[in-house]
Amino acid sequence: MAKPAKSQFVCQSCGAVASRWAGKCVACGEWNSLIEESDVAAAPGSGLARTSKGRAAKLETLARSGDTTRRLPTGLAELDRVTGGGIVPGSALLIGGEPGIGKSTLLLQLGAAFARAGRRVVYFSGEEAAAQVQLRADRMGLSDAPISLACETNLANILATLGEGRRPDLVVVDSIQTLWADALDAAPGTVTQVRAATQSLVRYAKAQGAALVLVGHVTKDGQIAGPKVIEHMVDTVLYFEGDRGHAFRILRAAKNRFGATDEIGVFEMAAGGLREVANPSELFLGDRQASTPGSAVFAGVEGTRPILVEMQALVVPSGLGTPRRAVVGWDANRLSMLLAVIDARCGVSFAQHDVYLNVAGGLKIAEPAADLAAAAALLSSIGNVALAPDRVYFGEVSLSGAVRPAGHMLARLKEARKLGFTEAVLPAAGELDAQGVKLALTRLSHVRELAEALEAHPRKPAGVRRGSNRETMP
Ligand code: TYD
Ligand code: MG
Repeated sequence: MAKPAKSQFVCQSCGAVASRWAGKCVACGEWNSLIEESDVAAAPGSGLARTSKGRAAKLETLARSGDTTRRLPTGLAELDRVTGGGIVPGSALLIGGEPGIGKSTLLLQLGAAFARAGRRVVYFSGEEAAAQVQLRADRMGLSDAPISLACETNLANILATLGEGRRPDLVVVDSIQTLWADALDAAPGTVTQVRAATQSLVRYAKAQGAALVLVGHVTKDGQIAGPKVIEHMVDTVLYFEGDRGHAFRILRAAKNRFGATDEIGVFEMAAGGLREVANPSELFLGDRQASTPGSAVFAGVEGTRPILVEMQALVVPSGLGTPRRAVVGWDANRLSMLLAVIDARCGVSFAQHDVYLNVAGGLKIAEPAADLAAAAALLSSIGNVALAPDRVYFGEVSLSGAVRPAGHMLARLKEARKLGFTEAVLPAAGELDAQGVKLALTRLSHVRELAEALEAHPRKPAGVRRGSNRETMP
């Protein structure tokens, strides 16, 4: 006679197994997390063998059969660039960003472009009333786009709405945190609700072949709220970033199952909605004060696109025991490392100075090649010597002070040339065929050469040279 299947209690938080129920998991201390599950593995031959006989899955080769990843161009070149060429039908895309950054604006523009191309677009707004969305559409001149708009937050109602009429090509949900399912007790915005809503919608999108776009709020530390769980459930995660003080908005992919994640899209928030910025360098360098000490232009690359951006440093004598270091748009650890390298290898000490470093325009730089530009800005500020206004910098600085080669050197130089720069300071190492690029190149193998050229005098406080304020580097 077969024994009845034993049951066990599994903690949903840490996975610990207990033989009886308790209010608190003894392993991780989480409350109310034990759930009864039947223990099939404990009864070999009985439980598993009696389950239904599995159906064999269809095995395929790696060669693509047909065009399985057909993409729908979005009508916004910058969005296409970030998604890797458009939105894939049946995929789920999550877009996160701070309140007021322009997520709803972007999605309304996307929806309108899709709808005008004859595709069916259903837009669920859980945050704003229909009148608010209509007002925005009016302001952006999109009122005539045939979008189906609904203000609905109940998951069952949303699925029922989607079941009616022609199958939608694009479903927008603004935002996932406002949705709720009747069956669950939890409040909207909790992990349980957000996860359940995302799961149902993703299942719908995959089954129907509709592209799903979800808006997700970010928490204070920049993560999408309702934590990482939803990032795992969707195919693409985009972050919409920017500084509210600036009009630039940057769209960045954090995860993309259909393309690369290093491309960025640049937009400008204007009166009539988001405007695409085809040449971001012009914008980022727009209001540069080239003759001020501490300003250096970095020739960077984001994805495949070269972008020039100004790095600004301010180095002032410190009145504090521990001098301040503040960074905007760059990594604070990277700054500390660079300061230590300049101190140790060039003999220029920042120990008595507060150091502020800012990437102009609200861009965040993650490339190590920005080291040389940051070093130039720092040395220029501490020495109170303005750098040549038409010169760009790039190159990674190692702990030994050696300048290491960077990728895409030619693309960086070409972009600099295009924007009217005449000189470049770059790594000595690395293959480069710069025949056609009309730039005066200074190739460095050690960061010391930069310090020497700038005459940043070792261990001399900045105040000594103040007043001389020379306009160009020797
Ligand atoms: P919104 O898309 O509502 O942001 P989110 O959905 O990310 O919270 O954008 C809000 C901001 O954008 C708001 O402060 C006003 C500004 N805006 C413009 O400057 N121009 C426009 O045409 C629109 C529609 C918005
Ligand atoms: Mg919004």
